[in-house]
Amino acid sequence: MSQDLSNQVLQSNPEPQSNPQLQLPTSDEGQPKGRNGGGPSAIVTWDPEQYLRYADERQRPFWDLVGQIRTETTRNVVDLGCGPGTATAGLRHRWPEAEILGIDNSEVMISRALDALADELASPTPLVDSDETHARPALTFLNEDITTWKPAPASLDVILSNSALHWVPRHTDLFATWLAALRPGGTLAFQVPGNFNAPSHTLLAELATSPGWRPKLAAVPSIVEAHEPADYYRALNGLASTVDIWETTYYHCLEGDDPVLEWVRGSALRPYLERLGAADAIAFTDAYRRALRLAYPAEESGKTLFAFRRIFVVAST
Ligand SMILES: C[S@@+](CC[C@H](N)C(=O)[O-])C[C@H]1O[C@@H](n2cnc3c(N)ncnc32)[C@H](O)[C@@H]1O
Repeated sequence: MSQDLSNQVLQSNPEPQSNPQLQLPTSDEGQPKGRNGGGPSAIVTWDPEQYLRYADERQRPFWDLVGQIRTETTRNVVDLGCGPGTATAGLRHRWPEAEILGIDNSEVMISRALDALADELASPTPLVDSDETHARPALTFLNEDITTWKPAPASLDVILSNSALHWVPRHTDLFATWLAALRPGGTLAFQVPGNFNAPSHTLLAELATSPGWRPKLAAVPSIVEAHEPADYYRALNGLASTVDIWETTYYHCLEGDDPVLEWVRGSALRPYLERLGAADAIAFTDAYRRALRLAYPAEESGKTLFAFRRIFVVAST
């Protein structure tokens, strides 16, 4: 089912739509604009299906993060950079009484989330449980940029973000506004990758800056802006009453041929391929594939181990 994004807000709880922010500013390229008229996040066109190829692995840190949120009364939850909305929708099991809003500046990601929600609404299967008396939790998706989203003070209980803030330049500048948007006892919780020194990223950067590719890929900006745990602590200390930070390295056991390439195809590789014509994109991908095969050889089992470090932050008011 395709979705007309002129009607970008759809709620699983069929009440009047409360957020009228339906129109996105666009850059010259027709992409959503970031705070500065187009940061790295604004120039990536996402492919929900490719991204969801590793949905289980990508959602695991989401639930590890949610598991550490201790806010007791949770009425309003916002998921920043919600992507295809799969994990966001699952939050209804965690907070069945809450209104949940997913925000993303990618039209295709929000379209995917809206399609899934529309299919669900059309299904006779209950959304969360079979208790007819249980109020349907509201789920809403909004095509909006994280940097232009302006939450009202003391209006939310949980703001969370999984694997999105590294696409948002200077996101630590937004923490004060977000914490002010929380009610007492509220929580800001986010996870960002901490694997930018891993071969999956360093090989990509080395290839893109090699003499053969540099002329065509020099315009690709430094893709991400993620920080180390101590930086996040310093950014949040004084704004939050408690700050809990940890890191986890997941060892994903991936199946199939060139699984690390397929993983990165859904995220970090995208800004590079978008700048290349079809033939160059194939040649660049082939060179990257060869490098990845050496860095991530298949185990005897046929599976490939993909180590992925992630940083988690949970700050409460
Ligand atoms: C790696 S995906 C994560 C999706 C989802 N949170 C998950 O865990 O599956 C990153 C998402 O962040 C979104 N994003 C990046 N920069 C953004 C921004 N400035 N405003 C809103 N969304 C943004 C992208 O469009 C993309 O859907």
